[in-house]
Amino acid sequence: MDPGRLAALIGEIEGLLCSIPDRIDRGLLEGARNLRVISQLAVGLDNLDLAACTELRIPVGHTPGVLTDTTADTAIALLLASVRRLPEGERLVRNGGWERWSSDLLLGADLHHSTVGIVGLGRIGSAIARRLRGFDCRLLYTGPNRKVSAEETLGVSYLQLPDLLRSADHVILSAPLRSETRQLIGRAELKLMKPTATLVNIARGPLIDPEALADALATGEIARAALDVTDPEPIPPDHRLVLMDNCLIIPHLGSASHATRKAMAQMAVDNLAAGLAGERLPACANPEVYDSS
Ligand code: GLV
Repeated sequence: MDPGRLAALIGEIEGLLCSIPDRIDRGLLEGARNLRVISQLAVGLDNLDLAACTELRIPVGHTPGVLTDTTADTAIALLLASVRRLPEGERLVRNGGWERWSSDLLLGADLHHSTVGIVGLGRIGSAIARRLRGFDCRLLYTGPNRKVSAEETLGVSYLQLPDLLRSADHVILSAPLRSETRQLIGRAELKLMKPTATLVNIARGPLIDPEALADALATGEIARAALDVTDPEPIPPDHRLVLMDNCLIIPHLGSASHATRKAMAQMAVDNLAAGLAGERLPACANPEVYDSS
């Protein structure tokens, strides 16, 4: 919905179904006199001010769990496509540039037996780790806390971010966007990465400084990037990153399978209906609103 229209309607509405492009900030919420529930069609909630919702005692629903495997599949698809240069190969064929088989045509790197660093070992990061075990990868992870039981079950080793960036052949970002993770990967971090490294982002665009990434890709500081998410979104077609052969960008398709989007829609509707009925949301991101104090 157009933000002006939403602002004009917000005083009347009792339930709001929203998603990633909708900015739900404190100013908007303070005018939401009748709002009893917000249901977000996504797992990430960085487009809305969750603290303000909690203060105003508005329960917020979202869609965790149902999109984990599809999003992890997207991460592996992006990583493999980028490492093995599939988009460049596809463009070569489509543009009529493929003249003959050649032993040095579009040589890439390998995923199998490589060292992969996962930034954010939550539900999606863990699902990515499970898949990468099938590629015989050595798995590193970082995040705000060590996860000792996951270290055993997934065979992942904890490192601080700088050490992970120095050690990994491929780095996958799967952390939520918060003030602490905004521009987590900037110039200093890109400098730590190997010149042969791949950077994959399936989380949120602002985790990366886009100008620093474009410079790192242009100068060969890292080899390639594969992005499901960008900053801004949509990214303009004349953006430096879009014009680079070693940058694969897709339009925020992480959970975009028929079955998963249907499951997300069902969950979002269930959250909305529960909130309107005055019941506890099945998947509530701020359960503190139900505390009786
Ligand atoms: C997608 O990006 C989501 O947060 O569900």
